[in-house]
Amino acid sequence: MQGNKVRICLCGTGRLGSFRASLFIASQDIELVGVVEPFRVCQSVLDRPNIKIFKSVEEINIPIDGIWISTPTKFHLQTIKLASKKVKHIYCEKPIASTPEEVKEAYETCRKNGVSLHCGWMRRRDPGYQSIKEYLISNNVSIQRAEFHSFDWPIVPPEFLKTLGNIFTDLMCHDFNLIMYYMNNTLPKYITAVGIDGGAGVWDSATASLEYPNNVVLTIIATRNGNKVYDNSLTVLTSNSQILECGKEPENLTETFMKRHEKNFKKELPFFANIIRNNGTSGDVLSCVNTSILIQAATRSATLGGKRIPLVIPKL
Ligand SMILES: NC(=O)c1ccc[n+]([C@@H]2O[C@H](COP(=O)([O-])OP(=O)(O)OC[C@H]3O[C@@H](n4cnc5c(N)ncnc54)[C@H](O)[C@@H]3O)[C@@H](O)[C@H]2O)c1
Repeated sequence: MQGNKVRICLCGTGRLGSFRASLFIASQDIELVGVVEPFRVCQSVLDRPNIKIFKSVEEINIPIDGIWISTPTKFHLQTIKLASKKVKHIYCEKPIASTPEEVKEAYETCRKNGVSLHCGWMRRRDPGYQSIKEYLISNNVSIQRAEFHSFDWPIVPPEFLKTLGNIFTDLMCHDFNLIMYYMNNTLPKYITAVGIDGGAGVWDSATASLEYPNNVVLTIIATRNGNKVYDNSLTVLTSNSQILECGKEPENLTETFMKRHEKNFKKELPFFANIIRNNGTSGDVLSCVNTSILIQAATRSATLGGKRIPLVIPKL
């Protein structure tokens, strides 16, 4: 640690990693001292010769306090395993992995190596989503019905869509994780999900309905093609018959996820820096495991053509 800034290495400078790099470079909390990128190092890093570039995590040979993982989701587990031999603190983009077994393995590996692991669920840092949670707690009420919107824009090319992981893993995971936030990590009884192929050869839109006891139903609508609107919003009917909304304000209906969530992405930096400064422990493991249980169940339901399936909780 130099001064008050923590020294970190960023793995992956692709679509999100390059945006992260620009936030780190401007940060008061984090000093970006290294990048691990086997293929395409982003320009803002190339422009700064003091940032060391490595091809793999094993190659890192400079003193660092933490590693930030922005590699594609399918490489998270292997990167976490390597990173946990190098540092005491790891921050990983969402989702940690698409199966509960892998999420568990990631946290177990970190626990055994005395490493803290945190996942980048940045929507939980959004004041709108937080205000709904605060209303539920302060009024001692729960959600009766909800409709989550995940409308993505700009559209990503079909080749890229195929590398991202399916829409439940890559996009709807945010909504599943928010549902764990609002439902205090309780899983639903049933899930019904439909994947829609708009012509790209992959599901680029999807819906999912999660059924809880007492006729509580939470619905998610997700699409990669928001048609010039990036919309992360939520409408809730509470058990005391109030309608709550967030994310519908014009400034929140933006054209890109970077613009919509820039303030929320920025909040993740001091959060991680403080974990490092205070030698904090791992974050919310259960919500990460449950999110991947929902990803798996939704994928299965959609693969079965939208079959309503009971949630099976794996023995981990
Ligand atoms: N929080 C959010 O809203 C949000 C938004 C977008 C992406 N993400 C997450 O960020 C992660 C990256 O997504 P992306 O869209 O930037 O992907 P991407 O494919 O654009 O970028 C990934 C980068 O990682 C590099 N890479 C691959 N293997 C690597 C390895 N072993 N070590 C180091 N670098 C490696 C690739 O060369 C590439 O440059 C995913 O997990 C995704 O789910 C989160």
